[in-house]
Amino acid sequence: MKTQLSFANLAEIETELLAVAAADTQTSKAPEAKPELLLLTADEAVQAAATVVLASGEYKAGANETLLLHAPAGLLAKRLLIVGLGKQAKATVNSVRNAAGTAVRFTKPRGIRELVFALPELELWSAAHSARAAVEGAFVGDFDPDIYRSDRKDQSVRSFTLAASGNSDQDALKAAFAEGVIVGESQNFTRSLVNEPGNKLTPTILGHCAAHMADEVGLKWAVYSTDKLHELKMGAFWSVSQGSEEPPALIVLRYEPEGVPADSAGPVLGLVGKGITFDTGGISIKPSDKMEQMKYDMAGGAAMIGAMRAIALLKPKVRVIAVVCAAENMPSGSAQKPGDVQTAMSGKTIEVINTDAEGRMVLADGLTYAKQLGATHLIDAATLTGACVVALGMTNAGVFSNDDNTYAKFEGALATSGENFWRLPLGEEYAELIKSDIGDIKNTGGRYGGAITAAEFLKVFVEDTPWIHLDIAGLAWVEENKPYIAKGPSGVAVRSILEWVRSY
Ligand code: BES
Ligand code: MN
Ligand code: ZN
Repeated sequence: MKTQLSFANLAEIETELLAVAAADTQTSKAPEAKPELLLLTADEAVQAAATVVLASGEYKAGANETLLLHAPAGLLAKRLLIVGLGKQAKATVNSVRNAAGTAVRFTKPRGIRELVFALPELELWSAAHSARAAVEGAFVGDFDPDIYRSDRKDQSVRSFTLAASGNSDQDALKAAFAEGVIVGESQNFTRSLVNEPGNKLTPTILGHCAAHMADEVGLKWAVYSTDKLHELKMGAFWSVSQGSEEPPALIVLRYEPEGVPADSAGPVLGLVGKGITFDTGGISIKPSDKMEQMKYDMAGGAAMIGAMRAIALLKPKVRVIAVVCAAENMPSGSAQKPGDVQTAMSGKTIEVINTDAEGRMVLADGLTYAKQLGATHLIDAATLTGACVVALGMTNAGVFSNDDNTYAKFEGALATSGENFWRLPLGEEYAELIKSDIGDIKNTGGRYGGAITAAEFLKVFVEDTPWIHLDIAGLAWVEENKPYIAKGPSGVAVRSILEWVRSY
């Protein structure tokens, strides 16, 4: 998708489709209170073109509600699309992000390949913040998952123009716009990886994809396999891969900012991702119903790879190391068995109660390795537990932290990313649940509080390093088409991880 920023008058832009946002400013909750619609542009010609239809009462400007006018009077645009932000009082910058995505997705089934989105003029947040969100939303809307359909019609938008008022701070908008392009493309890169089925994206191939991206954007990289896992004594990570014909991949990406010497003091951020390219459950095999979904069990690792792409291009002044632990969790004659005891890289022993709790096994060694490589602060992302989905549904992902200052930075990142994460607790009593009779810890803590006991398991390997854990099991895959995003991989966490990194 080609993108550009325009400061031209909306009425004078020649385009297939001009999209303009509208909000409902009605604040009364009385049942007889009618929506009071406000078109979020100062352009009088656009206002005039929409007056009659907005007065009709047919359109209510609900969130992502659309209304299309052909040949709008007084405009050079062939079509005028009005996109609702919902109640203005409840609108957030996410409403703008979604409205842009909705406009893009509106064009697709109609074969419209080019559009202009008018940046909503609202005093509620900065225009730059909106601009970045709008471009990100446009990229989110542009992604379609059906790449293996043989009669696939490429419906992707060729050109997206963001139109902003000529009176705005043009330099700030240009910078925010450029950022939005990088972030949107990086999130879609993550989605393209998550979308691939297990046969097309093995651990080795995930390693190739990461390396190829790293070369393109100038990151240092290394991709290791079985021998390196043995050399580093990564018994927990290796044990997950041992049942598969596909070798594991230990993917390391490094970002070293200019002007920050590699050996200087100061933070080194460690990004650790779960990269299970397919999770059958292993010997503790999953039911076959919906097992196909487990191709997205590498979404945490893919989020780290996408975030590293954005980091390489946005160049924050902080060192970052990403470690992605990729493996396929299979049952076979060589697979690990319930009851097996594994020795992790840290020296801690793990009793494997359930081979389906494999994400925490690979992350245990990934976290230890990131620390060995010098990470002073850790963040991990993983489609770790079904229990997290039970707790928070598919609306919020889980976040855990052992350090309130580090968490505060992550919370700040959410304000920019617009992603939904809900903090869940850690605690000594939960840690008790994963003590083992035979070794140091076991890999499951029973039925209750499963997202928390999984986090406690990771904490054993994190030790005192300030750390954030993201359980994205419920949000990595969108189950139904929405106006602003297609059903399929979401790319969740890329934006939040990026902003957390940029806060250092
Ligand atoms: N990959 C799954 C978790 C998952 C579930 C991700 C649903 C996305 C959607 C993970 O490896 C797993 O199987 N977890 C088990 C842990 C249990 C055995 C302690 C689970 O959640 O059931
Ligand atoms: Mn599993
Ligand atoms: Zn898994």
